[in-house]
Amino acid sequence: MKGFPNIRMRRLRNNPLIRGMVSEYALSPSNFILPLFVKEGLEKRRPVSSMPGVYQHSMDSLIEECHLTAELGIPAVILFGIPKRKDALGSEAYNPKGVIPKAVKAIKRELGERLLVACDVCLCEYTDHGHCAPIKGNKILNDEGVKLYAKASLEYAKAGADIVAPSDMMDGRVGEIRKTLDEHSFEDTIILSYAVKYASNFYGPFRDAAETGFAAGPKDRKSHQMDPSNFSQAIREVELDIEEGADIIMVKPALPYLDVLHALSKRYNVPLAAYQVSGEYAMLKAAAQNGWLDEQKCMLEALLAIRRAGATMILTYFAKDAAEIVK
Ligand code: PBG
Repeated sequence: MKGFPNIRMRRLRNNPLIRGMVSEYALSPSNFILPLFVKEGLEKRRPVSSMPGVYQHSMDSLIEECHLTAELGIPAVILFGIPKRKDALGSEAYNPKGVIPKAVKAIKRELGERLLVACDVCLCEYTDHGHCAPIKGNKILNDEGVKLYAKASLEYAKAGADIVAPSDMMDGRVGEIRKTLDEHSFEDTIILSYAVKYASNFYGPFRDAAETGFAAGPKDRKSHQMDPSNFSQAIREVELDIEEGADIIMVKPALPYLDVLHALSKRYNVPLAAYQVSGEYAMLKAAAQNGWLDEQKCMLEALLAIRRAGATMILTYFAKDAAEIVK
């Protein structure tokens, strides 16, 4: 255009040094949290077929994996348990001798202060019907669930968990968990709330890994997880969870919901986490295995996009691979 100086954006892109100088976002191992599955009674780790590179761990392989994770500079893992026995009330989720308390104690004994241990808090891996709370016919019982999440959180804190992460999406659970933890002098236990969790179809492969399905009651989680067509409810969910005492707020899934993540990061001064879920991982892996995408480059690009949208923490099955490259 006439009258304009010779503007060229390319001046700032012409070589690696200038690109580095103007780069605004970067990935570091300290951004990552690695999700790990541990199965009660397993002798040796077992691969999850829909998630290449992901395993159901035995106690021994879990400890080994935690050592590798800490050595890469990743600060935390989040544990999902698969019990031997499931029942209508998900009792193994809050059994003090259950798979998660056992795993937390073992990790803390071996790694102590070198790794933070977060525990996913939900009943869906522990109920025989596969729902996140007790059910009555087609109804999911919110208040009954909330009491049990508080009970489970307390057991995990007693075992030494640094963080509890309620992923159920029942109303009032953060407040009840905070109250229960405080009453038992676990004031320092962090609550990472799955505050904005959509009823997403991208959780498919997770259900293989965690051995959950719907054996009774509704065939989806739409009565408590968020409808993908909504944004404004995300605001309300976050406000409620902050009021109830959540320390960290999570958006899940990540890539299809970057708009939500970004809006929340502009609006609130709480640390934000995003969960790059099983389906996001599986899509990339499958395309890479077919030679259709470059796995490493696409992985880093996706993770960077999640950071740029506003997450300081990313729960990702790629944590170790990514940390290896960016450390
Ligand atoms: C348990 C839970 C789920 C995930 C994390 N915690 C499954 C679900 O809500 O159906 C999904 C994680 C993933 O897909 O990687 N409530």
